[in-house]
Amino acid sequence: MNDTPHQSHYRYAVSLSLVAALGGLLFGYDTAVISGAIGFLRIHFQLSAAEMGWAASSALVGCIVGAGIAGVLSDYAGRRKAMLIAAVLFAASALWSAAAPDVGQFAAARILGGIGVGMASMLSPLYIAEVSPAAIRGRLVSYNQLAIVGGILVVYFVNYFIEGLGSESWNVELGWRWMVGSETLPALVFFFLLLNVPESPRWLLKRGREGEAGTILRRIGGHTHAEREVVAIQQALRVEAASLTQLFGPGMRVAFAIGLVLAILQQVTGINVFMYYAPEIFKQLGSGTSSALLQTIIVGTFNMTFTVVAILTVDRLGRKPLMMIGAAGMGVSLFAISAAAFSGDPGLWVLIFILTYIASFAMSLGPVVWVVISEIFPTRIRGRAMGIATLALWAANYIVSQTFPMLNEQSWLVERFHHAFPFWLYGAMCIVTVFFVWRFVPETKGKSLEDIEHLWEAAE
Ligand code: BGC
Repeated sequence: MNDTPHQSHYRYAVSLSLVAALGGLLFGYDTAVISGAIGFLRIHFQLSAAEMGWAASSALVGCIVGAGIAGVLSDYAGRRKAMLIAAVLFAASALWSAAAPDVGQFAAARILGGIGVGMASMLSPLYIAEVSPAAIRGRLVSYNQLAIVGGILVVYFVNYFIEGLGSESWNVELGWRWMVGSETLPALVFFFLLLNVPESPRWLLKRGREGEAGTILRRIGGHTHAEREVVAIQQALRVEAASLTQLFGPGMRVAFAIGLVLAILQQVTGINVFMYYAPEIFKQLGSGTSSALLQTIIVGTFNMTFTVVAILTVDRLGRKPLMMIGAAGMGVSLFAISAAAFSGDPGLWVLIFILTYIASFAMSLGPVVWVVISEIFPTRIRGRAMGIATLALWAANYIVSQTFPMLNEQSWLVERFHHAFPFWLYGAMCIVTVFFVWRFVPETKGKSLEDIEHLWEAAE
């Protein structure tokens, strides 16, 4: 009897996951493209500091909205249709922002793209989790994180290449338009590949479409796997109440709180301060000799390499050990960065500690938080619950990115802490993370999504 899904079936789940992970690539591409364009855009539209901030951060507002609507949309219309809509938003935003005649339209176009990012940021891991056999689910959802980081790195190179095509005045006039417009290509690839992937079998069963779901599950894991899954999913769907109030019902409160807190902790431990402000931090902390681009590429490369460590270990070591080791490493690195900053002579150490921080994040909270929030909610409410957790993640991201420059430049904090204060704060959050994961997060490695649902019933 063929009880474990066969290698060739894994291949099918892997290929579906790779298509969905393009959503992650666009997430990374879209959030990072602005870094290359913003300087030229500022000169072109003669922007004040506040207008420039808005041109850069307007997309984040869209992300919050996108995360907010993606859950409901994907529960009603399906995971695949919602991803198709995100792909259309990416392409429309790329073309519109490239052609924008003024900064108002540019920001509006970026908000539209941000809605796509917010949607894709939850839909891709959600879809991957729902089509993956339990044994490799962590690995496949982590592909999405690799794609996010890959998208960030690719767009840095694309920006660098476009910038090299012409003079400063050409870049001010047209270069930035090509940068933001270049996203049309991956968006169209995402759209057309999505046309060839099936809907999530779990969503189909929720809709009573057993035949279609069975066919897909058989391709994913063979006959025995499909039969067992159909029964388990249907059973799980039967006991779940349909409404969102279920989120706060007994058994579910715990899952919901864990998802929400993990999503927020992924952000308040400071990752995007480094993603968005790395060159500024390098300059300010004294290691400003090498070019911003080179440092950014080193950071991006570390981020990718250590994501691979998570991919290789998340289904063997488990989610909990990775998150605890990683968050501890992030905390130690942050306290070391604070100490170096406080000493007033940070030098090369800062670069080293930033890299150990990035490596620790990449092998833990980066991918694993997305893995956990894509798998811990019951099927019937998974879309909405994950949508709310993702919304909290983007809102926390917005607050951290918005307050970092303020904390970093507040004169009495600078006098007392020499720019070390924000890093202490994020370091303290790492301690909270280690404790929280150790105490509250259950290990979900190797369990089917339906087994995980049973965990919550036992929890209350
Ligand atoms: C986070 C993003 C972050 C990215 C960087 C993702 O897991 O959700 O906020 O920019 O990792 O690698």
